Amino acid sequence: MKQENIRNFSIVAHIDHGKSTLSDQIMKMTDTFSFRGNEEQVLDDMKVEQDHGVTVRSKTVRNIYRAKDGQEYELNLIDTPGHVDFNYEVEKSVSASDGVILLVDATKGVQAQTVANYRIAKNNNLVIIPVINKVDNQSAHVDMCEQQLYELDESFLEHDIIHISAKTGLNVDKVLEVIVNRIPSPKGDETKPIKAMIFDSHYDSYQGVVAYVKVIDGTIKANDKLMSMNQRVKFATPEIGIFSPQLLPLKELKSGDIGYVITGIKDPADVRVGDTITGQARQTKQAVAGYQPAHSVVFAGIYPKDADFDDLKVAMEKLKLNDSSIELVEHVSNSLGPGYRCGFLGMFHLQIVRERLINEFGMSVIITSPNVNYRYTTKNDSTLKTINNPSDLPDFSLLKTIEEPFNKVVIETPSETVNDVLTLLSKSRGVLLDMDNTDQLVKMTYSVPLAEIAFNFFNQLKSITHGFATYDSQFMEYVESDIVKITIDVNYAPVDELTFIVHRLNAEKLAQEIVHKLKYVIPRKLYPMPVQGYIEGRVVARVDVPPLRKNAAVSGDKKSVSKKQALLRRQSLNKRKSASEAIQLPQSVFDAILNIE
Ligand code: GTP
Repeated sequence: MKQENIRNFSIVAHIDHGKSTLSDQIMKMTDTFSFRGNEEQVLDDMKVEQDHGVTVRSKTVRNIYRAKDGQEYELNLIDTPGHVDFNYEVEKSVSASDGVILLVDATKGVQAQTVANYRIAKNNNLVIIPVINKVDNQSAHVDMCEQQLYELDESFLEHDIIHISAKTGLNVDKVLEVIVNRIPSPKGDETKPIKAMIFDSHYDSYQGVVAYVKVIDGTIKANDKLMSMNQRVKFATPEIGIFSPQLLPLKELKSGDIGYVITGIKDPADVRVGDTITGQARQTKQAVAGYQPAHSVVFAGIYPKDADFDDLKVAMEKLKLNDSSIELVEHVSNSLGPGYRCGFLGMFHLQIVRERLINEFGMSVIITSPNVNYRYTTKNDSTLKTINNPSDLPDFSLLKTIEEPFNKVVIETPSETVNDVLTLLSKSRGVLLDMDNTDQLVKMTYSVPLAEIAFNFFNQLKSITHGFATYDSQFMEYVESDIVKITIDVNYAPVDELTFIVHRLNAEKLAQEIVHKLKYVIPRKLYPMPVQGYIEGRVVARVDVPPLRKNAAVSGDKKSVSKKQALLRRQSLNKRKSASEAIQLPQSVFDAILNIE
């Protein structure tokens, strides 16, 4: 295909606005995929994607479209995820595109991720084509959506906004024409040395890393001798091709094309996303600017349940090959044994990882209570250290300062819900930065500690605004804060995984709630076990987990006193012995803690 007839574009939108449905419709209309029956969401092929009805990874597919001008065009479409946790995927996809379709659900209007994804496209200087979807739905508010889009970007007034139904196919032909007419073709030079940007990858146990590339300059042929520019690793590619949407081998990929390059490389660190592939003999002068690595937002421990660490290790390493945004560090817990300390892009990402471990590796795991990271200095050392594991925070007597991350949170909500939202924000230790009224909506900008919004905040916001609020949150700064550590002893032994870092305001109440919950979820033993919560060395809460059977001292009156004394002696011996034994913590312990508000 001539480069002038190639169009590379991403479909971006807020979650559930219809990206995957539009991708399917485009594949259907261009005969890319022979739909046999009622297949839906052909690109969302992972089990987790089908279970949740959301896209987790971006998917690329080449479509051949005969336009109204009689010419054939190669439309390389990238379907992106809409969930806020996967913004990083959108950034990678957009960097391989020359334009985006910004899809808006006519029943919902412009929402937080519409704005966030618009910004990503704008920062990449891409042509942005707004499209209003679901106009077949009775509760569609097309005029409202148009107005919101013009407020987002006045330049949208220059062209008619297309109203479509991705589901029925209404006006999708117009979208295809606009893609051809308004998105520029790539402008590379196929005679220059190879310069191909790796925008994604997956790992295949036989073929090693399969790099997804946008060829900027040059022509890649099968068996070419290539190298990754940043890592400087050499390889010969046994196979190159395109996404159809399955991998379809081709003889060559030319400048402007989007396709895959099998590298045969077994260590994923050698060909990272963001790196540039070039020829070994003829090298391009300058690599493409790479990506910032993904930033973990929440951290938690992952430990094997009913399996060995070695099994978990195999599963986690394979998962990491196909999801480079998970951060992994091996860690040995005093109560759960060897496992990992992991970083995730958000709580939904954490949930997806847990499900993928079960679905794809048959691996049940224990995931400990998640937390954000903190920075501290000690009295002896003024260098700031970052920790993501609460048990790594030194004792309070040694600490000088503790800082916690704050995000800038922008919420737009209908005026009748403002009071409830303000209450939620003040409960979350938010600090008002700005407030603005437009028609029926109130826009509030707040600075809020990440620890208050990373876990359940969004669900609470959705519930009090009946799903009408839009929400955007971005890291702002670390701020010194009055933070304390809660530690929990079970049967006189501290349990690392039951260590929490919280603001002093909530600390005592939280410690009491946790200890109380533990009474009902910690597996009982034959003897009573005290559970104690400490803050700065002071006991602030205590309960006794009752024994499996009655305590000798209070059980029935039939036994002789000496027998009771013997029993008591045995129980007290057991108690002391068991204090040094590891406490087995089931997942229900961490789930119960997560449910504490
Ligand atoms: P994520 O990938 O999770 O961000 O979602 P998405 O944007 O890809 O949305 P998806 O295509 O999964 O559609 C979400 C829901 O909207 C599905 O139930 C679709 O059937 C429905 N839907 C999509 N397009 C239309 C449309 O044009 N009309 C109607 N009525 N429903 C639609």
